[in-house]
Amino acid sequence: MLVTGKSLLEHAQAHNYAVGAFNVNNMEIVQAIIEAAEELNAPVILQASQGGIKYAGIEYIASLGLLAAKNAKVPVALHLDHGTDFDEVIKCIRHGFSSVMIDGSRFALEENIEFSKKIVEIAHAVGVSVEAELGKIGGTEDHITVSDADATFTDPAEAKYFVEKTGVDSLAIAVGTAHGVYKGEPKLDFDRIEEIRNTIDVPLVLHGSSGVPYDALRKAVSLGICKINIDTDVRASFAKAVKEHLNLHPEEIDPRKILGPARELMKETVKEKIRVFGSDGKSWL
Ligand code: G3H
Ligand code: ZN
Repeated sequence: MLVTGKSLLEHAQAHNYAVGAFNVNNMEIVQAIIEAAEELNAPVILQASQGGIKYAGIEYIASLGLLAAKNAKVPVALHLDHGTDFDEVIKCIRHGFSSVMIDGSRFALEENIEFSKKIVEIAHAVGVSVEAELGKIGGTEDHITVSDADATFTDPAEAKYFVEKTGVDSLAIAVGTAHGVYKGEPKLDFDRIEEIRNTIDVPLVLHGSSGVPYDALRKAVSLGICKINIDTDVRASFAKAVKEHLNLHPEEIDPRKILGPARELMKETVKEKIRVFGSDGKSWL
């Protein structure tokens, strides 16, 4: 069933777990995520980045995501990930996304507030939820690259001011994670998560969660993280399965035989994450 991002995150917050938000670019990834969520009876978020939308086309991504969500036996939100462009965000709202992320993290505080607030007014008028980002998450996610030197942690007092001014439904915070593959082991600032949690009420979102040790993710959830974003680890499973299959069967030309095992491995990866986030068995349908 298609639901808003807000309803998913409020349920997660009330029941002390995090919803997995997995990036999608094509049919096999969408199916892997939905099958994993249904098998574990878990609410889930399908999210597409602007890069994913550019690759597949908005009509395809929206149609795939909405079809999957509407037919799913679990609650599913279709979410825009890292919307940096006003027109792109509006396009997603028009195509039926039930949630959008407005990423104004490249701006100074007041500009980020202005940018995010504008989207909140429009999205809320049509029942779409809004996630915003405060602080700068390092690494590369599609078209956004933030160097280690530019990455800045979220300030709790600023987060309070930002949420009050914008009216966003959830907040992505920078607390030590980074997008893409980690060079060393990421160190999360748990005290900061706790302080932000004690300062603001809206559900908190953790980006750059691939490659983060599971104990750290579990602790982050126990401290108030309600949505966990995963892209890189699913990509890695996709590539691993395709490579393995083609190494074993170099003559293979049937896309179904190449992509089928990739869909299976991605599903297993998504299931593993769902269990770590504690969202298994949390569907209310
Ligand atoms: O917005 C998407 C996620 O933050 C992706 O993070 O590169 O660690 O999978 P990841
Ligand atoms: Zn992200």
